[in-house]
Amino acid sequence: MRIDVVTIFPGYFDSLELSLLGKAKSRGLLDVRVHDLRDFARDKHRTVDDTPAGGGAGMVMKPEPWGEALDGILTDTPDTQPLIIFPSPAGEVFTQPMARELAQEQHLVFGCGRYEGIDQRVFDEYAERGRVKLVSIGDYVLNGGEVASIAMIEAIGRLIPGVVGNPESLVEESHEEDGLLEYPSYTKPAVWREREVPPVLLGGNHAAIAQWRREASIERTRRVRPELLPRELDDAPRGRHAAD
Ligand code: ADE
Repeated sequence: MRIDVVTIFPGYFDSLELSLLGKAKSRGLLDVRVHDLRDFARDKHRTVDDTPAGGGAGMVMKPEPWGEALDGILTDTPDTQPLIIFPSPAGEVFTQPMARELAQEQHLVFGCGRYEGIDQRVFDEYAERGRVKLVSIGDYVLNGGEVASIAMIEAIGRLIPGVVGNPESLVEESHEEDGLLEYPSYTKPAVWREREVPPVLLGGNHAAIAQWRREASIERTRRVRPELLPRELDDAPRGRHAAD
């Protein structure tokens, strides 16, 4: 997958060199290119913002540098028909199903806004010429789209075949398969500070382990995120598990 990012803070994206995504990049599974929006400003101060039309607080990102940056990417990749994502608290909420959908794309472009946002004509221009999506990573406000883009790139990137070594580890996770939260995990030692690993997990009975995990998932989901619980599990008996 090819990913282009346009930002005034390219340094944020250095973190993509780390861990699994860094490895995916070096193995050619992910081709990430980060562009500094200021390189597309035309004045000597490399200005990318201006006062809002109609007045008011804050600054708005000027359309011209965005136009130059995005035109450059589109010209450079004439065959990929990228989806352009603008992270925004005003966008559609990012979810695991959306991550799965976006992991099928050949080319994504992330446009990171700052200040009070980007001039609306940028969205209108590229929505008319291709595909544009405003996406929020949750109901809170960040200072810009960089952190939101990194979160989305990680969630999408790990779903690209080959990025996560053992694909089975993608299945039994929160928000995957049945939409329940993941069950608690334990490792050795069997007792730590007088706290035991639940004995069923050490007994080798795979059916009993599967049943314990499912009940733990249901109990956790009911307690922490009741709105995610499938209707048919609404009245299931409550299990007892360690606090999370
Ligand atoms: N930019 C600022 N806040 C954001 C959020 N919650 N999600 C995506 N982009 C943002």
